[in-house]
Amino acid sequence: MDLLNVLHMNATYRDCSYANSSTLQKYVMFKSEKVLQDAIEDYGANGFPECFNLADLGCSTGTNTFLFVANTLDSVHKACQKKNLKAPDEFQVFLNDLPNNDFNAVFKMAPPFCSKLENEKDLQRSLKCFICGVPGSFYTRLFPSKSLHFVHSSYSVHWLSQVPEKLVENKGNINIARASPPSVYEAYFNQFKRDFTTFLRMRSEEIIPDGRMVLTLLGRGVSDPNSEECCYIHELLAKSLQDLVAEGLLGEEDINSFNLPFYTPFTDELKTIIESESSFGIDKVETFEVKWDMRDQDEIIKSKENSGKFIAKTTRAVMESLLAYHFGNTFMDKIFERFAKHATEHLSREKSIYFNILVSLTKK
Ligand SMILES: C[S@@+](CC[C@H](N)C(=O)[O-])C[C@H]1O[C@@H](n2cnc3c(N)ncnc32)[C@H](O)[C@@H]1O
Repeated sequence: MDLLNVLHMNATYRDCSYANSSTLQKYVMFKSEKVLQDAIEDYGANGFPECFNLADLGCSTGTNTFLFVANTLDSVHKACQKKNLKAPDEFQVFLNDLPNNDFNAVFKMAPPFCSKLENEKDLQRSLKCFICGVPGSFYTRLFPSKSLHFVHSSYSVHWLSQVPEKLVENKGNINIARASPPSVYEAYFNQFKRDFTTFLRMRSEEIIPDGRMVLTLLGRGVSDPNSEECCYIHELLAKSLQDLVAEGLLGEEDINSFNLPFYTPFTDELKTIIESESSFGIDKVETFEVKWDMRDQDEIIKSKENSGKFIAKTTRAVMESLLAYHFGNTFMDKIFERFAKHATEHLSREKSIYFNILVSLTKK
């Protein structure tokens, strides 16, 4: 699969758009805010440059994209107020994602966002913000050498650059599953190690010395890659595909030839890769859990069925481009109806969480 040209979150005009189905990712960003603030404050301890250059990698589309920008600009201003420092006059913001991302929606949101920042009379400030879209894979060079002060990426670097090769023995599964043989884990881990090392090497050329990078990604808190914490949500997706095989709509071979380019590292695996690549010092590693349905109890009438549908919607907005490319558009409604049922059943038996890893790094 040519991932560069296939993978994208559902566009804004779609029924199940990422923009309308990404409250989970928004919540994760909220949980990471403090670490982002600390990184910015620490970076600016001796003053900020006149123009602060920041990049968000895997920015996607919708309000989350601009939430990150607003949070970062706010953090810079708070840091300057706290230490009585001169704030940067200008901010240059680079928003990166794969070429099929809905950049049209991002570009439409940019001018009103920037003009609001210029006229924040209530906050007694006027910020000049220049926004650029940067299409391309973050596993390649995206920016000139030593051009960035701060890099951020949330819920993106668990995506691999490609499906690992040699996954012939992963029959009936679409990712590492409890029943997968060790060779499946090895293929996924080796791919992640290669990709994440490349990611760090590329950024090490683009970020100035002492620049910061904050990454949040899905991971696992246990070393066992076959544990349920790893990818159980993908086992439920595989189960939904198998339902369609049982109904004669898909063939077994359709599932056997499909695997997700997705790896959730164990915290120690991540740290070891960062240390052995050696361009960045680790300032902080935090982990936190988020429920599959993390919405506030008061916000909704929370039944297991309602949560099952919510989980199906958030998963569809992220996964549909890959599934539709392989299985065809016609099956999408059926797959996610089955998936909502399996998620509902699972929730009535188990506490289901996403395990998140948050790392804050300084370029050496
Ligand atoms: C789940 S979204 C997260 C979006 C946003 N950061 C948020 O938190 O809402 C993951 C994003 O990473 C992007 N992505 C995945 N692999 C990428 C790559 N190699 N280069 C650039 N973007 C990538 C996807 O296209 C997608 O938009």
